[in-house]
Amino acid sequence: MACTEPQAGHAPLMEVSDLVVRFRVRGGAGKRTIVPVDHVSFAIGSSEVLALVGESGSGKSTIGRTLVRINQPSGGVIRFEGREVTAIRGSALEAYRKNVQMVFQDPFGSLNPVKTVEKHLIFPLRKHRGYRGRVLDQKVGELLEQVGLTPVPEMRAKFPHELSGGQRQRLAIARALAVNPKLVVADEPISMLDVSIRAGILELMNQLKREVGLSYLYITHDLASARYFGDRIMVLYGGKVMELAESKELIRNPLHPYTRLLLAATPGSRSRVNLTNPFNEAPNLDAGRRGCPFAFRCPLATDVCREEMPPLKHQTSDAAVGEHLVACHHSP
Ligand SMILES: Nc1ncnc2c1ncn2[C@@H]1O[C@H](COP(=O)(O)OP(=O)(O)OP(=O)(O)O)[C@@H](O)[C@H]1O
Ligand SMILES: [Mg+2]
Repeated sequence: MACTEPQAGHAPLMEVSDLVVRFRVRGGAGKRTIVPVDHVSFAIGSSEVLALVGESGSGKSTIGRTLVRINQPSGGVIRFEGREVTAIRGSALEAYRKNVQMVFQDPFGSLNPVKTVEKHLIFPLRKHRGYRGRVLDQKVGELLEQVGLTPVPEMRAKFPHELSGGQRQRLAIARALAVNPKLVVADEPISMLDVSIRAGILELMNQLKREVGLSYLYITHDLASARYFGDRIMVLYGGKVMELAESKELIRNPLHPYTRLLLAATPGSRSRVNLTNPFNEAPNLDAGRRGCPFAFRCPLATDVCREEMPPLKHQTSDAAVGEHLVACHHSP
């Protein structure tokens, strides 16, 4: 199936096919079903960063949370290292979660205010890696060093409220690393941080990719950081994949009108594309919706767009630019 290949040269680590997530929500007169993730397929290679970009409500966090099985998939298949993990439970799920960790947007909310920095790391290192005594102490020091929480002796005894936002996110990353994961789902890890420290956190994640071979699903609103950190970028709108390509290719040659809109909204963009959202409306996520979710905002939309969701199709077979997929009836 299209778009389940990782980037060329990367062995597949996570493979997601036709993922569907449904929620029952209250709305209007009674309950209704929404489908914020609607037949989404992709793969993440070992030591690869897949950036997942889209505006608020497009289903990014739901995908991330489903990969770590906080949300349960309603359909589709998730495979990790070739084994199906879509519905595993109990000890198999616990073992899987050591391999796939999540880092959240708000580091403060995900840390325990009454635990010191070192206590956040001692627990996973002891429980999941079995370290004790002097080795445990040494491993805590190594992790703090690795994420740049130094001087280590001073940092160990601090509480989360005594750290800056960037230091808290470094601790959240260290805690994720403590169980030695292969993949980190990073859900907007820099968006709550001061602009001046965002680059440092992205650089830390990049360094961990190089040094430990970590893979990431990097969730962001922001194409500029996706381009910097992502090997490939997947653009999501209304629960559907609009476009997927290597980062350089997607920025140089955006094919979907929605990707062009995102690019035009990036600060410093020289793009002249002027797509506005006259309705200022979120896409319809209701079960049973038809057509392309972007059609109601798209200047290229015709009847077929409102009726039929276009398939995600290969646009190029040029080995130099890798796989470039787009879901648009009007793409070349
Ligand atoms: N547990 C849930 N129960 C019901 N609806 C949910 C649940 N989680 C998410 N949703 C809905 O699913 C849709 C997609 O939400 P999601 O959080 O995945 O979007 P997002 O792309 O991460 O947005 P943001 O950029 O604002 O974080 C939204 O309409 C949201 O209200
Ligand atoms: Mg989100």
